[in-house]
Amino acid sequence: MFDRLEMAPPDPILGLTAAFRADANPNKINLGVGVYQNASGKTPILETVKEAEKRLLEQESTKDYLSIEGEKDYAVALQKLILGEDHSILKDCRAATAQTPGGTGALRVAAEFLQTACDARRIWVSDPTWANHNNIFEAAGLEIATYPYYDAASKSLDFAGMIGALGEIPEGEVVLVHGCCHNPTGLDPDVEQWKQIAKMAGSRKLVLLVDLAYQGLAVGLDEDAQGVRILGEKGSDMLIASSFSKNFGLYRERTGALTVVGDSSDQAAKALSHLKKAIRANYSNPPAHGAQIITIILNDPVLRRRWEEEVRQIRDRIQEMRDLFVQTLKKSGVNRDFSFIRRQNGMFSFSGLTKDQVQVLREKYAIYIVGSGRINVAGMTPSNMDRLCEAVADVLG
Ligand code: LMR
Repeated sequence: MFDRLEMAPPDPILGLTAAFRADANPNKINLGVGVYQNASGKTPILETVKEAEKRLLEQESTKDYLSIEGEKDYAVALQKLILGEDHSILKDCRAATAQTPGGTGALRVAAEFLQTACDARRIWVSDPTWANHNNIFEAAGLEIATYPYYDAASKSLDFAGMIGALGEIPEGEVVLVHGCCHNPTGLDPDVEQWKQIAKMAGSRKLVLLVDLAYQGLAVGLDEDAQGVRILGEKGSDMLIASSFSKNFGLYRERTGALTVVGDSSDQAAKALSHLKKAIRANYSNPPAHGAQIITIILNDPVLRRRWEEEVRQIRDRIQEMRDLFVQTLKKSGVNRDFSFIRRQNGMFSFSGLTKDQVQVLREKYAIYIVGSGRINVAGMTPSNMDRLCEAVADVLG
């Protein structure tokens, strides 16, 4: 049977990491995968994570299985982090959470739940969206449709196009939105626009699946959750796929969650029972380590304050690199206006570089960027900036 196999294509994002690691060029630069690097080019373990791990080592007394949906303390802590302490969803107990292996695990469970328990046939995603969204949803049997999101000419959010398209989506269908730091464009709706999205979703009875993977990396932990909090006020059915890879730096611990929000606590409990069916058939029950770390940090006021400060430092460094990138491109003789990069949120900059230019950057300069032109700003450092910008100036001609 296996003799009929051809090589599958490499993943457009993680395949780049593999190629980068295999590249012998000592000056190579990895701006592909969305992983934070500090000014020395390292992906550090947060100090608060190290501290929580020490405590965990002392306290942990068993490696018994977790329940299918994971730990209650983790669920409670992350619901408050996402929704804020006083949100009506929490007061009315309308949310139920399952601990998942990363945000990807959460999205996959969400898709299977929607497809099998809710008879969803299709999901609407922004054009463009994270390269892996389509893989995940198609693997779960959902058809993909797109709504406009990005205006390439003005390098801005095409909100008129987006809201117009949402108004045309058949009632009751599922729409994926990025909670903040849209991947790949870095462009998010503002508060007024979120309100309009919530209103539209309510009137069309759309089911919203919010992908929240970068909370804290745009403006602040509360500010970045405003969109999801506003969407949750209107009472539409909603799912929130959370990833803590970036804001806790827990990439390889695969730490995420899927929160389902219904009309009542009874609805949320019923939905959770179906999530559990999907989870049991996929990976049985979740990994514990990352979630235990997060629970310790979020529930200890001192550690939590220190963690919030670490997130602030990550956010500030990324913003500094945005500024430096724009300045250094200018200094390197690039005439094109790249100031839009300062206005984008989170790790990514949707640069406008073409596939061919990205290819030349890789082959001639060992600079790795996703084929769509998405650049991981969090991989830029003061020491790789000149080389990067000279190379970009060269490919722009
Ligand atoms: C990215 O978009 O680079 C990250 O979300 C990592 C991944 O798994 O693709």
